[in-house]
Amino acid sequence: MDNQGRIQLAVIGAGYWGPNLVRNFTASGAAVVTHLCDLDLARANKVAAPYPAIQTTTDLDAVLASPIDAVAIATPVRTHFPLAKKALLAGKHVLVEKPLAWSVAEGEELVALAAAKGLVLMCDHTFCYTGAVRKMRELVRSGEIGEVLYFDSVRVNLGLIQSDVNVLWDLAPHDLSILDYVLPDDLRPIAVSAQGVDAVGTGFASVAYLTLHFARPVIANVHANWLSPVKVRTTLLGGTKKMIVWDDNEPSEKIRIYDKGIDIGDEDPNRVRVSYRHGACNIPVLEPTEALARMAREFCLSISEGRAPETDGHAGLRVLRALAAANRSLEAAGARVELD
Ligand SMILES: NC(=O)c1ccc[n+]([C@@H]2O[C@H](COP(=O)([O-])OP(=O)(O)OC[C@H]3O[C@@H](n4cnc5c(N)ncnc54)[C@H](O)[C@@H]3O)[C@@H](O)[C@H]2O)c1
Repeated sequence: MDNQGRIQLAVIGAGYWGPNLVRNFTASGAAVVTHLCDLDLARANKVAAPYPAIQTTTDLDAVLASPIDAVAIATPVRTHFPLAKKALLAGKHVLVEKPLAWSVAEGEELVALAAAKGLVLMCDHTFCYTGAVRKMRELVRSGEIGEVLYFDSVRVNLGLIQSDVNVLWDLAPHDLSILDYVLPDDLRPIAVSAQGVDAVGTGFASVAYLTLHFARPVIANVHANWLSPVKVRTTLLGGTKKMIVWDDNEPSEKIRIYDKGIDIGDEDPNRVRVSYRHGACNIPVLEPTEALARMAREFCLSISEGRAPETDGHAGLRVLRALAAANRSLEAAGARVELD
């Protein structure tokens, strides 16, 4: 840390997402960004131009040899593992962009290495730091919506077609990390099934449906699609008492909590008696802080307080396991694949 108790941090990757990390860590006041490292020096120089104190470089070894406390990695997914491993071996705390790594074996190695070294390993599950998702977690975990029945998420737009991953790897980490964060710890998926189609011939599915199965009668579904003419970001979360609709495209009233539901009477065993509840709709005020600002602060606090961050390596690994299983299911035409 510097003499003001701030985490000294290097950001690796100055592409689309890295500049957001530079901006938010700098603004957090809890960290000083000392280096910005990218294989493309011109790109790093451009991003760092407004921050005269940031040194730009292509030399990661030199960065890791300097007295920084931590690195934040925003490079392509295939490079997460080698870069994170190198940083952990150099004794640095690590924040990695989602998804944690390219394979479950890589993710497991990172989690074990961080634990062995007593270092923080955090995965940037950005949505878990939004006011909307934090409110959903509160509503679920306090019991206000009752027992969870289903989670149904649509994440579609005319997306940036990726050349190295399918649409689930690009978009579903958000939904999987949200589920992991919101649902109670004793309600984790036990299996997945996924179907998709390579609609534009890139070699990877560009439209896909991922279903998560649980040990209880609960179901979750994620619809991810790069070929939608409109951007839809809507999630339904149904409970026995209340139901939540989250529309992330709404500028302010993102969450609506409906006191609606169905009660099944049990007077007559030969006839199902259904009664409908039509109660009020509540629109809660959400915490306004930018998600990345909260995420950056959480990484710094977890280091200074010597504790696991909210979205730690284990959370990253659970998301990765579901993604890897989804790939196996896609290859097997939607067959159910058990999660370990
Ligand atoms: N949390 C989110 O919501 C969110 C959003 C977008 C992207 N991401 C994640 O951020 C990461 C980066 O995505 P992006 O869209 O910024 O990619 P990008 O291709 O725009 O940028 C990647 C950058 O990394 C650099 N790079 C590649 N290998 C490197 C290495 N070995 N050392 C140093 N620099 C290297 C490249 O030169 C490039 O500038 C991905 O993991 C992606 O999943 C997260």
